[in-house]
Amino acid sequence: MRRSLCAVLLLAAGAAAQTKGTANLTGNADNGKRLFLKNACYQCHGLAGQGGLAGARLAQTKLAQAAFVAYVRNPAPGGMPPYRAKVMSDQELADVWAFIKTLPEPPAVASVPIP
Ligand code: HEC
Repeated sequence: MRRSLCAVLLLAAGAAAQTKGTANLTGNADNGKRLFLKNACYQCHGLAGQGGLAGARLAQTKLAQAAFVAYVRNPAPGGMPPYRAKVMSDQELADVWAFIKTLPEPPAVASVPIP
């Protein structure tokens, strides 16, 4: 328990250091949508960010912009490929984040008709 808490703190510190100055860029959701498709995020996370077998759900993410950028730059091992600044700039990731923020919540399970 203690060790994992330590790891989380280290991760958080690393993330904060890495994204220094990148927080709160104004994102362009339309461009973000284009980049979400162009950079293959949709292949694992779904066209609506709904998630699937290969990737976590992104719609309604609780991640703040800085944490989002930090994750994509340095994802959990064994999950997704890292997207370094050479591949996607901070501004481009801000755009993708803005796009993800526009994605609607999935409908409540009870409201989905049974075929
Ligand atoms: C090859 C498949 C794949 C691709 C491509 C991919 N991801 Fe992921 N992503 C994953 C997986 C798998 C996870 C979950 C990893 C885990 O939880 O250990 C993940 C997790 C994430 C998370 C963390 C979600 C959370 O709430 O913890 C974010 C944010 C994310 N991806 C964004 C992106 C973005 C943005 C792109 C495109 C630039 C992208 N991903 C491309 C597979 C992918």
